[in-house]
Amino acid sequence: MSLEESKIIKNENALSMEFMPEILPHRESQIQFIAKNLEPASRGRKPQNIFINGPPGIGKTASVKFVFRQFEEYSGIRSVYINTWDYSTSSALLTKITTELGIFVQRRGISKDEIIERLVDGLKKTNKGVVICLDEIDQLIKKDEGALYDLLRLNQYVENPIGIVAISNYKDIFLNLEPRIMSSLDLEEISFKSYTLDEMKSILNERCKDAFKDGAVEDGIVLLCANHAITRGGDVRVGLECLRKASRLAEDENSEKITIHHVKNILFTVKSVKMNIIKGNVEGVDKNIINILETKDDITSTNLREIYSKNYGNISHVAFRKHLNYLKNSGIIKERKTREGSRGRKVYISLVKRKVFK
Ligand SMILES: Nc1ncnc2c1ncn2[C@@H]1O[C@H](COP(=O)(O)OP(=O)(O)OP(=O)(O)O)[C@@H](O)[C@H]1O
Ligand SMILES: [Mg+2]
Repeated sequence: MSLEESKIIKNENALSMEFMPEILPHRESQIQFIAKNLEPASRGRKPQNIFINGPPGIGKTASVKFVFRQFEEYSGIRSVYINTWDYSTSSALLTKITTELGIFVQRRGISKDEIIERLVDGLKKTNKGVVICLDEIDQLIKKDEGALYDLLRLNQYVENPIGIVAISNYKDIFLNLEPRIMSSLDLEEISFKSYTLDEMKSILNERCKDAFKDGAVEDGIVLLCANHAITRGGDVRVGLECLRKASRLAEDENSEKITIHHVKNILFTVKSVKMNIIKGNVEGVDKNIINILETKDDITSTNLREIYSKNYGNISHVAFRKHLNYLKNSGIIKERKTREGSRGRKVYISLVKRKVFK
């Protein structure tokens, strides 16, 4: 059925995770906080760097993108948004920033210092302030901590200091960072709190207005979806996914509207969305390990490595351990250690079913 003929859907895009609504209800004060701290960049002054943390799906990324959109439209501040899952080494990150700012740089065969030179030249030519969001910054810190140092170093050469917004699900990611990086980062921290059921309801209601035709959503639907999202950890994406799937089912059944029956039928299929995103980003050895754990849960690390070698080829103990640590730190797997026995301590590995945040 084409969208024109749909009795229900006005704009399905409004239910996608990338969609940026006109307003972000219940994040007004956080948006103001972000804007206020970065705003000095519009007057050639040093912006206050920010660190945003909090559980998945509660508007951290959306709030920063919201502020960046306003900056681009009204303030003359240039903004660059980067998810460091995709750019997790210093060179990749610097190249991305350079190209995002419209400065030409070859993608290959160019040293890091040359990229920095290009970037500094470009920054000197513009009299606009620049702010950069490093989303999922734990990835960058895990893979190339020096990248942050390189980024901060740019401020020595340019007149208008760059502002940085770091985002992570984890509050303590900067704890082990080198003190000199920490002190030049000088982060102002803000923790986003989960939405209440009422807040989730009003957020989903707003999205329904964007996505569905008038009268296409039966009473009680939004409450059901909001409740499901809250019990699955409070991720708005879970609520959006429920709405999207229910509307698809309603269309398949050629219904005039989305009913409770449609929602109840799809609810059990919608699980933690963030974990699926993370798993989708993981590659190579890490991905293979997850594949094994999806069929064999809670097995010893020795056993896991044996299965790994059989299925995917040999891997050294040290290399394997490194991958397990990475997956553990990303919150994808968890370890359970037995007490020291006569044959040493055993470590059991399993997938984290749902991320738990303190
Ligand atoms: N207050 C809100 N109003 C409207 N939509 C919202 C609001 N908060 C979150 N959303 C929507 O929920 C989805 C998830 O939000 P966002 O990507 O900002 O989460 P996040 O906190 O960055 O999560 P993660 O830590 O997993 O990256 C997005 O589609 C976003 O538009
Ligand atoms: Mg995010």
